[in-house]
Amino acid sequence: MKTKSVEVTIERILPGGMGLAHADERTVLVPLAAPGDRLRIQIERTKGNVDFASIQEIVEPSPFRVEPPCPYFGRCGGCDFQQLNYQAQLDAKVEIVRDCLRRIGGIENPPNFQVTPAPNQWQYRSRAQWQYDSIRKRLGYFEAGSRRVCDVTDCAVLAPEMQQTLSGLRARMRDGLLPEDARDFRAVVGDNKRVSIGPPIGERANEVLDITCSIHGETYRLNAESFFQTNVDLLPELIAAALGQAGGETAIELYCGVGLFTIPLARRFKRLIGVESNKAAASFARENLANAGLANAKIVNENVADWLETLEGAGNDGALDRGPNARQASGFHQMNPIRSAVAVSAFQRPDFLLLDPPRTGAESRVINGILRLRPKRICYVSCDPATLARDLKKLIAGGYTLDSLTALDMFPQTHHVETVVHLSG
Ligand SMILES: C[S@@+](CC[C@H](N)C(=O)[O-])C[C@H]1O[C@@H](n2cnc3c(N)ncnc32)[C@H](O)[C@@H]1O
Repeated sequence: MKTKSVEVTIERILPGGMGLAHADERTVLVPLAAPGDRLRIQIERTKGNVDFASIQEIVEPSPFRVEPPCPYFGRCGGCDFQQLNYQAQLDAKVEIVRDCLRRIGGIENPPNFQVTPAPNQWQYRSRAQWQYDSIRKRLGYFEAGSRRVCDVTDCAVLAPEMQQTLSGLRARMRDGLLPEDARDFRAVVGDNKRVSIGPPIGERANEVLDITCSIHGETYRLNAESFFQTNVDLLPELIAAALGQAGGETAIELYCGVGLFTIPLARRFKRLIGVESNKAAASFARENLANAGLANAKIVNENVADWLETLEGAGNDGALDRGPNARQASGFHQMNPIRSAVAVSAFQRPDFLLLDPPRTGAESRVINGILRLRPKRICYVSCDPATLARDLKKLIAGGYTLDSLTALDMFPQTHHVETVVHLSG
């Protein structure tokens, strides 16, 4: 295919991290660009009125451009913001969140906000997933836009203990000591620099090591099989932003993981329910609550959407005290008595609901369930502004008002940003 080469100026950075330019009345998206860059680009592919391009030559660099220090930059799919100085990264993230809220969420005038900078712009990742190609003997991250493994010896955003772990895995790969059937390795570092690796390797290959991670006076048990945030240095700020002044009688936490927000929430509310579908994470959350001496919180190991729908059954017929036949009629035959008790206590319009879904956001069934529950206040913690904006649109249409918005730079050197939104209704 004959590819076209043109000169463009990058106007700004879009959600997804691409630079926006225009050429011949067409929209052009350019990865790894900086606002103000004058670039010679090559059109790689076209979709509708949008051209996707790559940089051939930097004709005149943006004042925000810096030399990316990582030798894998441009090939590795991990970091896509190393070409921007740090303030430009933060500014681009404000734009990205605003753009999503406006275009996807229909929110024209969101509250003013800044992105809280990370204390460490490099060597911050305390959790990572490394792809493993056992045939080609490669270990690292997927290349940008592909499932090919980019073999990465040194990763500039890994915390030092994580880098050591990657080097240790690489040495094992060289010696043929990694399991042939493994496709990836996950690792997380916690207190006393202990690292949990999954799938486990070496002498303790039968079990994934449990570790603890202490944050802001609370201790969490976890391992590589369960979700935990990647940038522990910013977690006190994230927890403070998410909880705000919250306190009262009842709270619900959806997608609670191992209990990062659950423990501080349980200290502020009389009764709390956390919902988490990952069995290991739910069991850690229970253990973490017990270790903190908190008996006022229950963890439900279930899919959030399903759980919300069982709650609806409880509310519609008030059947829980009316015996098994009434329960069967409303679908309650699937619930055991413990779950039923949990459902009833939660159903009365909670004071606070916190949700922290994965990147895909909350499915429609979840938003509908929240709207039926009608919590007095909602906190939405999100790692994807696009799905956040989609979900906010529905919550606002359902009668909620956006009270405040905070963003945190949990992922320096990438376009990703963590956003915390408070709503009331
Ligand atoms: C972004 S993490 C947040 C976890 C926790 N709030 C934290 O900060 O450590 C999302 C969590 O939701 C869980 N999850 C994903 N889909 C779910 C679903 N449909 N129902 C319940 N939990 C789900 C994942 O296992 C993960 O623990």
